[in-house]
Amino acid sequence: MKKLFSIPLSVIILFLVSCSHKEIKVMPSLTVSNHSFSNYDSVKLNHLYLDLNVDFSNKVLKGKVVLDIDNSMGSQFLILDTKQLVIEKVQLEDSCNTPWSLGKEEHYVGQALVIEINKNTKKVAVYYHTIPSAEALMWLSPEQTSGKRNPFLFTQSQAILARTWLPCMDAPAVRFTYNAKITCDAKYMALMSASNPQHKNKDGVYTFEMDKPIPSYLMALAVGDIEFKSLGENCGVYAEPDMLIRSANEFTSLPSMIQSASEMYGEYAWGRYDILVLPPSFPFGGMENPRLTFATPTIIAGDKSLVSLVAHELAHSWSGNLVTNQTWDDFWLNEGFTVYFEERIMEKINGKDYADMLSTISLGELKMTLKDLMANAPGDTKLKLNLRGRNPDDGVSDIAYIKGCMFLKLIESKVGRQKWDNFLNQYFNAYKWKTVNTEEFLAYLQNNLLSLNPNAKINVNEWIYEVGLPSDCPNIQSRNLRNVELAAKKVNETKSLKGFDTTGYTTHHWLHFFRNLDADSIEDIMVQMDTMYHLSMSKNSEIQCDWYLLCIENNYSKANPYIEKYLLSVGRRKFLKPLYEAFSKTSEGLIIGREIFKKAESSYHAVSRNTVKEILQIESEE
Ligand code: BES
Ligand code: ZN
Repeated sequence: MKKLFSIPLSVIILFLVSCSHKEIKVMPSLTVSNHSFSNYDSVKLNHLYLDLNVDFSNKVLKGKVVLDIDNSMGSQFLILDTKQLVIEKVQLEDSCNTPWSLGKEEHYVGQALVIEINKNTKKVAVYYHTIPSAEALMWLSPEQTSGKRNPFLFTQSQAILARTWLPCMDAPAVRFTYNAKITCDAKYMALMSASNPQHKNKDGVYTFEMDKPIPSYLMALAVGDIEFKSLGENCGVYAEPDMLIRSANEFTSLPSMIQSASEMYGEYAWGRYDILVLPPSFPFGGMENPRLTFATPTIIAGDKSLVSLVAHELAHSWSGNLVTNQTWDDFWLNEGFTVYFEERIMEKINGKDYADMLSTISLGELKMTLKDLMANAPGDTKLKLNLRGRNPDDGVSDIAYIKGCMFLKLIESKVGRQKWDNFLNQYFNAYKWKTVNTEEFLAYLQNNLLSLNPNAKINVNEWIYEVGLPSDCPNIQSRNLRNVELAAKKVNETKSLKGFDTTGYTTHHWLHFFRNLDADSIEDIMVQMDTMYHLSMSKNSEIQCDWYLLCIENNYSKANPYIEKYLLSVGRRKFLKPLYEAFSKTSEGLIIGREIFKKAESSYHAVSRNTVKEILQIESEE
């Protein structure tokens, strides 16, 4: 206090005035292009430094982001994406306050943060904090974790949620390197999509580095009571302590997956590959955060039957993270290639029959999705999407994933695997560390493969720009699942389970069996099936989802308590969506669905919560 009085009042006033926030006098025109306000065409973002404090009791991240930019084009402004962020101050070159303003809030995309810069500006520091309901952030209470004793935080930035936890150029066309300092309570470990610790730190201060340029949707952070177990020289698994051993046992094939992938499509570019197994509210199966895949615990089936998800996220290290879709309209370039690559990895480690089995299941799912979309939103069945003015989440469907993969399989079948693999290698190499859009890919495909193989006749435009499934879609034969189809046929004909033999059935056999039952024979055998195989009590998340769907559709209400328990414990959107949709088809079902949702809501991530709200026609605050 004394010290303060010895400073002349004029100096204090000058200081306060220079610190006060000045708005931008004349705002530039703000346009959203590809879901981003940012002016990446005028200002180059090179590197980003993040310094955040994790406050579990207030559910707030607070600190600063420092952006290293190149403004040689002399832009007057730097425009960043933000959503739900509280901006405190903005400084240039570490010290000098600069005028800034937030633009008008827009649906889905948030608000532009416009910052006055000058030709020589190299560093822009934004001091800010997040709000507890920030969409990318999931703050879990101890009860929502596996260990039940400590809170947990994880982020989910894809597609356009990075802007809810850091101001950035939130467009996949922009790549930057980053480093970070994260401070948390010393009881916890912090992890990012970067170089990571393997042990807890005594002071709770963790530093990270990602020296390869990545797009913002791959920014990721997790904090909690996490431990590490190695699975090989350059890979391992992180999880809450009581999940660690089970997780490590499930993922023993990880080193051979990495090796197989690298043999096929070139050296793994990211150094280490680790997996973080999250609490069950993680809204996705997996997320390919570089160096550290985030995964749902629902793939830990105990019999390794769901590990193809790891192959999928690993494959993104090439398709997606190394070669990135330029806009969310080109999403199939990320996911279609990755599903294709995932199947190739599974073929290498488990054989062709296994890969064909996965592919048959996928193709069946695609056909179901197509039926639904062709009736309700046919435009969304095109590979090249048009998501202008929409949430890019609307593009996340089996179209990008499976129709995309089928297109690539078709090309492979026309030119032969050898030439196709050479082409893919060449493509990954040509576009590594870059972004690519559909048209560029098609030109590259034409020039480097199709024009050299004139006999390979493929109607590329039909596949990419037209609705539905082209008639030359490859047909998949699975020896493994053929017997399941025969078994289902017999059950359909006899309406009885007599002679039905489930020896050797793993997850996918059950799914295929369920999906091959005729609607009118199911009702008669629900009780029999449940009595014989205890399906309602299954602990396998995939079997549960499919079985519960049948239960809802066939009014098998004995399963309701199990369904409720499942929906209260799992937050993965893929499972929530079909079940809530099935409930919402009847008025009684809608009431049950809404009641369950009321209890479950707080344990769902915003991504899942918003989807379910839409299904149950519950107004969203957004
Ligand atoms: N990158 C996706 C998840 C994603 C996509 C998040 C779009 C947000 C927006 C991830 O690689 C993925 O595809 N996950 C799938 C797994 C799968 C197909 C094996 C999932 O979560 O189900
Ligand atoms: Zn994916």
